[in-house]
This record gives sequence, C-alpha cells and structure tokens, in this order.
Amino acid sequence: MLPPETELWNRVEAVVRGVFARYGFGEIRTPVFEDTQLFARGVGEETDIVSKEMYTWQDRQRSESGVGQSLTLRPENTAGVVRAYIEHKLADSGMLQKLYYIGPQFRRERPQRGRYRQFWQIGAEVIGPAWSGSDSAIRDAEVLEMLATLLDELGIKGWRLALNSVGSSTDRPRYVAALREALEPVKAGMCENCQRRAETNPLRVLDCKEPGDQAVIDALPKIAEYLDEASREHFAQVKAALDACGVAYVVEPRLVRGLDYYTRTTFEFTVADGSGLGTQNALLGGGRYDGLSEMLGGPKAPGIGFAIGEDRLILTLQAQMALAADATLGAKKLDAFIAPMGVAQNAAALVLAKELRAQGLTVEVGDGTFRLRKSFEAADKLAHRMVIVGEDEVSSGILTVKYFEAGEQTKVPRSELAQVLRG
Ligand code: HAM
Repeated sequence: MLPPETELWNRVEAVVRGVFARYGFGEIRTPVFEDTQLFARGVGEETDIVSKEMYTWQDRQRSESGVGQSLTLRPENTAGVVRAYIEHKLADSGMLQKLYYIGPQFRRERPQRGRYRQFWQIGAEVIGPAWSGSDSAIRDAEVLEMLATLLDELGIKGWRLALNSVGSSTDRPRYVAALREALEPVKAGMCENCQRRAETNPLRVLDCKEPGDQAVIDALPKIAEYLDEASREHFAQVKAALDACGVAYVVEPRLVRGLDYYTRTTFEFTVADGSGLGTQNALLGGGRYDGLSEMLGGPKAPGIGFAIGEDRLILTLQAQMALAADATLGAKKLDAFIAPMGVAQNAAALVLAKELRAQGLTVEVGDGTFRLRKSFEAADKLAHRMVIVGEDEVSSGILTVKYFEAGEQTKVPRSELAQVLRG
C-alpha cells in the first residue's frame, strides 16, 4: 500500500475511531498469531477457514525437554478478543466490554479483487457477563445502528443489511438434524462440496453458490421454523429496535455465515454492483456468539460483534468516488515548497521549513543544487506555493512567494509567512 492511497486508509480509520469513541468503544490490540487450538475450537474445525485457509506452523521447541507449539496467523480476531477477555479476567468488572480493533488477518484463499491472503479488518465486539445485559437485543440493534451510521459517515452509498437469526445453541442442533434429514434424499444430485457438507456441516450447504443447487437449497427447511420462543422474541426485539431507529434491513433465512460460533443474530452488509467489489461484495459480517467464551474454557459471556473488510471498504470508496469524480482521490498538494537558491542557503531553508512545520503547515524543501527551473517544476507538482530562499531573502527577512495557481509572485515578511501560506 502506497501513498496517496494510504491517505485514504488513514482518513477512513480516523472516521471509524471517531464513531467508535462516540459509541463508547475502546481499542484492543491482540497478537497477530495465537495458539492454533484457539481457532480450531473457536471458529470450528469443519469451517473453510480452519480446514483449509489457516497459515499454521509448528514452532520450534524452546528447550530440550519442551514440546513445540502449533501457532497460527490469526484468520479473524473474535477468538483472540474472547481469549483476551478470559485471560485478563475482564468479566470481573461486571461491566459490558466494548472493544474495537483495526489490523491484518490472514487466510489462504484464492486471491482476486477484494479477496487477499493478508487483508485488514476493522472490527468490534460487545461482550460481558449476562447480568451486564450483554445478551440483550438492544446490544444487537445498537451495533447495527452504529454500522449504518459509520457507513453513512464514510460516504458509502447503496449498502444493504441482510439479517437473520440462527437460533440458540439448542435450536441449532434441531435445525441441523432437520437439514441433514432433508438433504439425505437429494444430496446425490448436488455439487461435490454440498455432498461432503451434507455429512460434515449441513449448515454450510446454505452458503453454496452453485447455480444448479439453488432450487434444492431453497426448498430446504428454514431456520426460522426451528427457533424457540426466546430466540424468536429476541429476534423480534432486534427488528423492532432497528425499525424504530430507521435502519433498513432485509431478513435472509439462508444467512448462516461461515464461522461456527454464531448464535441468534447474524448479519452481513453488502454493496450493490458497480461498487468495485465484483463478486466479493460482502463489506462486513458479524453476529452474536453467546457460547464462544465457554467453548474456549471461559465463563458464560454472551457477545456480539462484526468485522469490516477494510480493503473492500476502500475499494468501494474509490469506485464510488471515481463515479462522483471526487477530487480528493488524488494526492493532496502541500502548503509550500521551499527553494534554496544555492547550496549555501540549504541550512537556512531547512530552518524556515522547521519553523513553518512547527506551525502546522505541510512543507517540502528543495535543494540548492537545483537550477531555478527545476525547483519550479518540482514545486509546481508538489505544492500550492513556492518560497524562495536566497541570500537577499535571508538577510532582509522578506521572502519571495510564488503562487502557482494565480501565476503571481509577492514579497512577504518572515513573521507573516505562515499566515499567508495558510490563506
Ligand atoms: P468474516 O465474515 O469471516 O467474519 O469476515 C468479515 C469480513 O472480512 C468479510 O465480510 C470481508 O469483508 C472481510 N474478509 C474476509 N476474508 C477476506 C479476504 N480474504 N480478503 C479481503 N477481505 C476479507 C469474521 O471474521 C468475524 N470475526 C466477524 C465477527 C466479529 N463476528 C463477530 N464478531
């Protein structure tokens, strides 16, 4: 990633940090690698992520007697956050923990536009003991409303929120059993992946994109029919709160997501065609994971969170900005370029640059070996104005400022220079 694109990344991250602060989130920084078992147990052995996409290696043993440890570059960060929640006893405060992160994740996927082996996620998790209200539907609605606000503030247009409930840890086995039963007589006619998944992880069949399988999948039982009273009520409350906040959503019964820890609310935000993402149009995904902490050996700690694919967010912004012919796409010009007239003026030019930068201006310094013409060309490319530092300017304290856009040149006393350049 190079400038000026990194400028856009930084702007996005600044907006995101501002929104997170307003909603009471604090930043957590977890390690980039963790014990392999954390992901195997948290994300699920049968998921694509764990079964084929992780970068895993056997770390060398540290002593003769010790055994090597299997480590993995994090493919996602929810498991790491929950591990930290348990390890640092964050439950002890009795308070809801609202944590966000921005960082790289790693999956051995087939790279294409919007899908990389090292990609960035901006994510957040809300987790705490049940008595902190962590399992309440208001938390789900607040997270979704925050995401809608965040995308709007970033200027993402045409996003769509797909919502579903995958039920509690008791609803799911009943649904999975029903799926398995319904798949039994039809699976032979399905794609190879579906045939395998019908055995190992029937929920994943719902993710299949194979055109020939869609009619069969649409006729399978729907999870909504298997939700118990409490899950149904929870989902109804989430939807009612979203309606009250004016956040638009579409209920999608097939949205079960590719990680095993989800319970109840699951969601994805996509952007329409023409957004620069092509087939990788899932901008972000998330959901509730009420049993994850216990799965990892921790206390009961319901939670909900999401991760935005930052690469995809940037691609979408770039495509939408290009459509709107937004001028901010290009590199921003600096306030001034300082051109020393001769090597003897280099030090004086650097002193002037230091003064101006200390006053918050963006400044580049040339080199006294440049001929005037070369300084002109460099300055015109980089900055709005050029300040000439020659022997006369240094002794008189009156500087020559050239304005490229207006094609003018004026004399400015050193004491007024910063103000003039800012104007
Ligand atoms: P996920 O759906 O696996 O969920 O990933 C979230 C987002 O990360 C995706 O929607 C996509 O934008 C982006 N992403 C995933 N893989 C890639 C890739 N190879 N290249 C570029 N972008 C990618 C999770 O990771 C969960 N931890 C989210 C979550 C947080 N659920 C609860 N809390």
